[in-house]
Order: sequence, then structure tokens, then C-alpha cells
Amino acid sequence: MAEIVIVPDRAAAGALVAEQIAKLVTERPDAVLGLATGSTPLPVYEALRERLADVDVSRVRGFALDEYVGIDPAHPESYASVIRREVVEPLGLSPELIRTPPAHDEDLAGAGARYEAEIAAAGGIDLQILGIGTDGHIGFNEPGSSFASRTRIKTLTEQTREDNARFFDSIDDVPRHCLTQGLGTIHDARHLVLLAFGEGKAEALAGAVEGPVTASLPGSAIQLHPHVTVVVDEAAASQLRFADYYRHAYANKPEWQTI
Ligand code: F6R
Repeated sequence: MAEIVIVPDRAAAGALVAEQIAKLVTERPDAVLGLATGSTPLPVYEALRERLADVDVSRVRGFALDEYVGIDPAHPESYASVIRREVVEPLGLSPELIRTPPAHDEDLAGAGARYEAEIAAAGGIDLQILGIGTDGHIGFNEPGSSFASRTRIKTLTEQTREDNARFFDSIDDVPRHCLTQGLGTIHDARHLVLLAFGEGKAEALAGAVEGPVTASLPGSAIQLHPHVTVVVDEAAASQLRFADYYRHAYANKPEWQTI
């Protein structure tokens, strides 16, 4: 099962995950990172600024989880812009090695397969950072997504559009479609690190970690993966039935084990 780590706050989560990423990049300078956007991963990217300051990151490669369809790539909320602003520039990564799904290509129908080919050519993703939507999505795999799905166009639920309206001037500006890695794509990453913060994520998180494995709650696909770390604050953990056991297991973890 996934390892569940309950931390006091976002900063502690950021520090923990940044430590693991720094270790990976130090051991493997051309590591391939799977990059989430949205609010959740920001504490990780913030912690990485300091943690990677003395690490050679020039060969680090990265693939974003998803991208909106139908907004200009130069729009400040396109995920290409977000990844450049929050990850590539502050961490000093090489821009040409960091990719976002090509949702602005003329040949949109073939864009998913091209992105899959790029990930495969890089040797696959070593560590995939994930957030979770209030409706249980990971990437933008909305309820009903196949566990075998690959990168493709999806229609966002209205709940997701409402949740993401905070990044735009009005809900009318939130795109209706996206190009997202599939659940099968995510499953192929060697290590999944899912973060969740706040009460609003508690129900989806409990479903993903402890509920039945079901396409109706796409985050539950993490239960099928052999190496998953879930890092959450107390509020997001508030509906976990076995929270005390997770705390106990983490407190008694052998020192030689990493996450
Ligand atoms: C973003 C992504 C989404 C978000 C999720 C949570 O690349 O794939 O699954 O992780 O919508 O969003 P936040 O973090 O803004 O609450």
C-alpha cells in the first residue's frame, strides 16, 4: 500500500518531498520528474529553490501532467507558463528539457501519442508529483477515466472548472478541455508522490487511499502502484480511518528507509 505521511503543514510537506527529489537528482543528474501544477505542489517547488541551489540541475528532465486546451500558451495560466514561472526559472532547469503536453499543436488528435513517445524516449518518469481534485481526479483524469488511459483530451467537470476559477478572471475564462497524461501513463512512473492539503481534499483523499479502487474516483488508481508516497496535512488527513496507524508506522520507520 501507499506510505501515508501526515505532516503539520504545507512547508513540512514541501521540505520532505524536496529532500527526496534532491536525493534523486544528486544520484541521477538526468532524472525525469513528473510535474504537477495547481496550488498543491507549490511548497515543493519553493523548498526546492534552496535544496537544489548547490545541485547540478542542467540535465534534469521534466514532463508536466496536463495542459489546458483552448488558451494561448502565452496566457499566464497556461500550464506551460505556470511550469516556466514556478519551476523552470526559479530552479534554473534547462527549458528545452522540460515539456508540457502539446495542447496547442494543430494536430491535436495526435498530440497525446506524441507526448507519450517523448516520455518513453526519456526512459519514463522517475518521480511523479501529484495533487488531487475535490472530485478525485489526478492529472485531469476526471471520474470515469479508464485505468488504462494514456495521454488524451478530456473534458473538465464543472466542479473542476469552478475549483480552478480562482486562477482566472471569471469562470467563463476557464477552459473546458485539457490534454492530460492518462491513469496508465501515471501508473508507469516509478514513484508517485501525492500531496493534499486542507479540509476540502479530505473526502477525495480518503476515497483515493482507503476506498474501493474505482474509475469513479480516479485517485484510487494509486492503490495499484507499487511505490506511492502520500504526504498530507492534518486537515486533508481528517477523514482517514487508519490515520493513527499511518502516524505510528512513520514514527517507527527504520532510519535507512527513504520515502
Ligand atoms: C494539476 C493537476 C490536478 C491538480 C488538482 C488539484 O497539474 O493535474 O490534478 O493537482 O486539480 O489542484 P490544486 O492543487 O490547485 O488544488
